Amino acid sequence: MTIFEGRGLSVRYGAVKALTNVDIALEPGLVHGVIGPNGAGKSTFIDGLSGRARVSSGVVTFNGEDITARSPRWRRRHGIARSFQRTSVFNSMTVRHQLEMVAERNGESDLASLVDTLGLAPVMDRVCSEIAYGTQRSVDLALALIGDPKVVLLDEPCAGLVQDESVRMLQHVRDICREREVAALLVEHDVEGVFRTCDRITVLNLGEVLASGEPAEVRSNPAVVQAYLGSAA
Ligand SMILES: Nc1ncnc2c1ncn2[C@@H]1O[C@H](COP(=O)(O)OP(=O)(O)O)[C@@H](O)[C@H]1O
Ligand SMILES: [Mg+2]
Repeated sequence: MTIFEGRGLSVRYGAVKALTNVDIALEPGLVHGVIGPNGAGKSTFIDGLSGRARVSSGVVTFNGEDITARSPRWRRRHGIARSFQRTSVFNSMTVRHQLEMVAERNGESDLASLVDTLGLAPVMDRVCSEIAYGTQRSVDLALALIGDPKVVLLDEPCAGLVQDESVRMLQHVRDICREREVAALLVEHDVEGVFRTCDRITVLNLGEVLASGEPAEVRSNPAVVQAYLGSAA
């Protein structure tokens, strides 16, 4: 059952066609990975779905309702959350203060269980900018998950993480989505991590969909092998 859908989405930046006619359908409890080389349009895709970038064509629906014209703020309040490619945790607030502020704004009733799941309890009273980078990325994930969103759009949550942190991060994403019935879109640079973690995968190249489907299907797609995975596949 699709809860969140983008159909025929295109985004332009002046003369640059950053995204052309891209479709996606997200289902509760499933993680849909989006991979593609740098500049493929992955972040733009999240910007279009979250309302940050204006789409020049296409429709975004949530529970069947057309929300294409809704603001990012409206989407966040109604259960469509996102994270950013770079950490948004950088300030002089404590982790607790930052999480509680967002919890208040988005009506989170069980912050403690989120903190527990993500292993953030020991750093709650530390200043955000002073905790380890890997932990900052977990705070980023927590910020996106506050308020029980139905959809999360995650832009490279593993960027800058070392291998074991990256593995743990992807496990958290998958477990939390299953437990909370969240529909996730996961943009990630770590291709093997995506194949391991995701239920569906879309490959973008030059702003267009090269392939989309179940991991095994995508991995063996000749166009993907040729253009992207190369001999590593
Ligand atoms: N704000 C912007 N203004 C102009 N061009 C942009 C902007 N954001 C992205 N682009 C261009 O759109 C294309 C897709 O970029 P992006 O979505 O960031 O790719 P990815 O996240 O896959 O690396 C690139 O050619 C990039 O230079
Ligand atoms: Mg990007």
